[in-house]
Amino acid sequence: MSDLHEELRDNVRMLGECLGQTIAKHRGQDFLDRIESIRQLSKSGRSDTDSDHSELLAALSSLSEDEVLPVARAFTQFLNLANIAEEHHKARQHTEFCNLDSDESYAQLVKQLLAQGIPSEQIINTLVQMDVDLVLTAHPTEVNRRTLIQKYDAITDCLRALDRDESQYHRLQELISQVWHTNEIRKIRPTPLDEAKWGFTVIENSLWEAVPKFLKHLDSQTRALLKQPLPLHCAPVRFSSWMGGDRDGNPNVTSTITREVLNLSRWMAADLYLRDIDALRAELSMHQCSAALRDRVGDEAEPYRAILGELRDQLKATQRWLEADLNQQPHDTQCPISSSEQLLEPLLLCHQSLLDCGMDIIAEGPLEDTIRRVACFGVTLTKLDIRQSSDRHAQVFEELSQFYGLGSYSAWTEEGRQAFLIKELQSQRPLIPHHWTPSDDVQEVLDTCRVVAQADPASLGSYVISMAGQPSDVLSVILLLKEMGITHNMRVVPLFETLADLDNARSCIDSLLSLPWYKQYTQGHQEVMIGYSDSSKDAGQLAAVWGQYRAQEALTALCQQHQTRLTLFHGRGGTVGRGGGPSHTAILAQPPGSVDRSIRVTEQGEMIRFKFGIPDLAVRSLELYAGAVLKASLAPAPAPLDHWRDAMDTLAAAGLQSYRGIVREDPQFVPYFRAVTPEQELTKLPLGSRPAKRKASGGVESLRAIPWIFAWTQIRLMLPAWLGSDTALQGAAAQNKLALLQEMYSQWPFFASYVDMLEMVLAKTDTSISAYYESRLVSEELKVLGSSLRARRDSAIEMVLKIKDQQQLLNAHPNIRQSIEVRNPYIDPLHFLQAELLHRDRNQPDQRLEQALMVTMAGISAGMRNTG
Ligand code: PGA
Repeated sequence: MSDLHEELRDNVRMLGECLGQTIAKHRGQDFLDRIESIRQLSKSGRSDTDSDHSELLAALSSLSEDEVLPVARAFTQFLNLANIAEEHHKARQHTEFCNLDSDESYAQLVKQLLAQGIPSEQIINTLVQMDVDLVLTAHPTEVNRRTLIQKYDAITDCLRALDRDESQYHRLQELISQVWHTNEIRKIRPTPLDEAKWGFTVIENSLWEAVPKFLKHLDSQTRALLKQPLPLHCAPVRFSSWMGGDRDGNPNVTSTITREVLNLSRWMAADLYLRDIDALRAELSMHQCSAALRDRVGDEAEPYRAILGELRDQLKATQRWLEADLNQQPHDTQCPISSSEQLLEPLLLCHQSLLDCGMDIIAEGPLEDTIRRVACFGVTLTKLDIRQSSDRHAQVFEELSQFYGLGSYSAWTEEGRQAFLIKELQSQRPLIPHHWTPSDDVQEVLDTCRVVAQADPASLGSYVISMAGQPSDVLSVILLLKEMGITHNMRVVPLFETLADLDNARSCIDSLLSLPWYKQYTQGHQEVMIGYSDSSKDAGQLAAVWGQYRAQEALTALCQQHQTRLTLFHGRGGTVGRGGGPSHTAILAQPPGSVDRSIRVTEQGEMIRFKFGIPDLAVRSLELYAGAVLKASLAPAPAPLDHWRDAMDTLAAAGLQSYRGIVREDPQFVPYFRAVTPEQELTKLPLGSRPAKRKASGGVESLRAIPWIFAWTQIRLMLPAWLGSDTALQGAAAQNKLALLQEMYSQWPFFASYVDMLEMVLAKTDTSISAYYESRLVSEELKVLGSSLRARRDSAIEMVLKIKDQQQLLNAHPNIRQSIEVRNPYIDPLHFLQAELLHRDRNQPDQRLEQALMVTMAGISAGMRNTG
């Protein structure tokens, strides 16, 4: 194998040189020399552990107001280019992995399962029944503009071409120059429609190619190892979306938007299939065909082209129908192509005919790819989930109960609400009066339910209720959908996202499934969503992960008792503080039985780009997901031993107390957070269509998890991801339980994954950087809190090192450590500049400085490889 690291370094160097040349051309060699000297000072500051960075700080403070922005941009763009080189390197490694049959490959996994005595029939059946639903969301964690992402993708293409020894240097320079001359910060916020279109672009540019490639690879491995093909209808991974459907705390997602997005998604699907069909018509010029196909097309000379021509016409008619529907113009009641079966029928007919006529090699080409796409994307591309907060539904019933003179719904007991809702659910007469004028907020909820009720069930995923806690939260949504005339039993899914709600999840679902009406409604399938970010924000990482684990375990057992199939929907963010981390490790760490072939997981913002942005990476990510779910279904992690469980109870209780002791109870905490982090300024970054807070007027408690983590990441304290873990782990060690922690680490995947993620996040912290922010931005009386927090971060590191019995963080991941170390000289100037800009901007706001401030935020996120 060639030296891949050398190749990565070469690429980073080459891209950096191109950027340097562009900067020199635009701003002159002197300016480039200044940037280089800042980089050198930053580098020497890093290598001298006692350095106070005074030279670097002096160089930065000598920059004029007009120079600050281009300096920030230079470092930011370098970090973006380094990311591109790294992604490309990973994709290249993937190709080698496949060839080398690495430990992580699907083939290796199947061999392991066979070696464990699992019959091949069971493996293939599990694969066929598998339902991994990746839910793409518009969470505002993508700091890069779409237009820049497109240029970055083109740069990746150049790197690929360079690997094939094609000359691309000129094109690279052109692209990097385009990047340099483009603003990195959007001027206006994207609309929800823009966000949905961005999601479709990911499918168009990457997943459309990646999915058949992934399935083809699975098929060839399955044939080789299990002696059976992967059936053509088998789609172990599918996609849903929240883009244009998630209205929780986002007033910009209206019922009109949802209707438009539902329509657009089908239009886009038709468009992509049209391109496939055109390409197939060009290729399938054969004349020999089966009797079945001949019967269908009559004496056409080119039967495949003839039948595909019909399909093409129908797809075009479908697009016209959708356009008319969107513009509320007259059209037939029935859309020409409204089901996957309609698409599949002619394709399968061609496929079978080619096989029958001995043209297997042609059947298995692009035609099979299209058939596999239909299995995965259907006619709707993705299924759209709806999400709304429980209090918005309660508000409908509050206004209704007042209107009917029934008192106040919110003042009723939970039993009272349930009894009312169940009675109305069984009633034949409508509940919502025609002549009623509710508040605008209530009207919007009703309008959304109407759009959902009128939509084709095939285009819908689940209706998710955020901040759900009680059975009435679920029943109320089912009733609203019924009132609006829904004709199918849509999955209505509670999202449990505080520690208290996670603890209560079992009892809530038990009460629901014990209601005969509800049990029948579920048709034997219950979906529950677990909120990772908000529970971590509420309780601290340690107590939250244990709360999530216990809730899943309890729900798994409960649903078995109720003979109901459970699908757990994991609402994970990209960063550790929001439940992020390598997906396959996370899946393998779930409680036994909880991943039984089906799973839903959110994929958000920048993570969509990192995992699925280019086809080769997407193939790799899909394979990792499929492999992990297959393994977790057939050979799940062992159940924890009782004394591990006891230890976790104690650790979680200590972590909770310690976390809340600071975040909720220390009166200095909120002022410190507001002063030391750019939390307030982050709201100006127009990353997504939704506001940073659930309630415009709220304090830290109403701040969403993303800006909460984002703010701590910018100053490199990453507090939410470790606060509480430090004291809890130390407490255990003080009671001579270090050996027990080590035992849990080595034998229990759940605990190992928690410690590994803690290690990962701690490796990204840098207390000298956080201390610098403090020195510039925090008043004297709050500094005591800062130094105690930094000391606590040190003790968290000490505990991780003890548990893992190692001398330094990321011992087992030298690549990640190296990647952080290599980036530091580029990120440090951005931190110092940011602290300075925050200081200046808070005293005297200035547009130019604000722009530079936003660029530093984007640059630090690029350097950290995530926002929040
Ligand atoms: P939410 O997501 O704020 O939309 O619930 C939180 C997250 O993804 O971290």
